[in-house]
Amino acid sequence: MEKILVIGAGGQLGTELTKALANKYGSDAVIASDFQESVRSKFEYCSFRTLNVMDREAAATLIKEEQITQIYHLAAILSASGEKNPIQAWDLNMGGLLSVLELSKEHNIKKIFWPSSIAVFGPDTPKVNTTQDAFKNPTTVYGISKLAGEHWCEYYFNKYGVDVRSLRYPGLIGYKSMAGGGTTDYAVDIFHKAVNQENFSCFLQEDTYLPMMYMEDAVNATIQLMEAPAAAIKIRTSYNISGMSFSPKEIYDCIKMHVPNFKISYAPDFRQQIADSWPKSIDDTAAKLDWGWKANYDLTKMTGEILTKLPVYFNYQKK
Ligand code: NAD
Ligand code: SER
Repeated sequence: MEKILVIGAGGQLGTELTKALANKYGSDAVIASDFQESVRSKFEYCSFRTLNVMDREAAATLIKEEQITQIYHLAAILSASGEKNPIQAWDLNMGGLLSVLELSKEHNIKKIFWPSSIAVFGPDTPKVNTTQDAFKNPTTVYGISKLAGEHWCEYYFNKYGVDVRSLRYPGLIGYKSMAGGGTTDYAVDIFHKAVNQENFSCFLQEDTYLPMMYMEDAVNATIQLMEAPAAAIKIRTSYNISGMSFSPKEIYDCIKMHVPNFKISYAPDFRQQIADSWPKSIDDTAAKLDWGWKANYDLTKMTGEILTKLPVYFNYQKK
């Protein structure tokens, strides 16, 4: 039987991915873990263990005790928070990954998933339909750590046969969890303001296009990649995947079709410079060819679904 450990399960992605894994493989097959004990209540449907990924001994004990066969390692400090605490971001993003790779080698873990990001690209990368192998000169500590991490994954695969797989997620947008310290967070926050009939102040300029993806597509892509036969995974750094591309003005206009009184203003801050260094849209031909990836959601479909489901999920009262 598979035993899947999700590290950093309490965050924006883990909240939804862990549930999808439990639905697919059964609750007994999934162990959620996070260093924040406070997120335990999200995981009533499966086991939860408190784990700091930097505590290698504790992670090794958990892997042995629970006879873990697969690891999804999600714990990281994202782009905007990383710029405030660069050394801490490097320590967690690199130290956590190296620890998971080393433990996977030692304990013969069958498969590992580790997310990379569009942040591996930089200001000199071609911005439109950015290709898999486009030039990369990341300028954030987050992007530098993801680019180095991709190469460590490839190294462990080539040198030790560790079956580690990875996706370069665009900005992820879901309605079941809040975003945690990234540059694309505005595209999650905007929905909460809209359904609560509050004005929204956006920290990016209105014409800042970024690659984005609905959470359901991201979760499906992840499980599809992990289910694919090993021989189909030809890229062992990380795959580009694409969902949609829009600017703050475009998502605002789309929401306004459903919430006509919704108001937005723009107050760009330090995150503008990060956004300006990233691609506007992504080419994901390799993911399509190698393991059959295809996104299901565009901006219109995602917006309609979030505006319907978010108020019910958070039990927001109509104003
Ligand atoms: P998040 O910040 O919402 O969640 C991270 C989780 O990791 C949190 O629950 C946190 O408590 C936990 N964590 C932090 N330090 C830890 C430690 N030392 N030990 C164990 N747990 C720890 O992040 P997210 O948005 O869910 O992102 C998950 C992964 O996906 C990250 O690797 C991120 O880089 C990647 N990613 C996310 C996006 C996005 O838009 N959300 C885009 C690209 C890549
Ligand atoms: N959404 C992430 C961020 O903004 C990109 O990896 O940091």
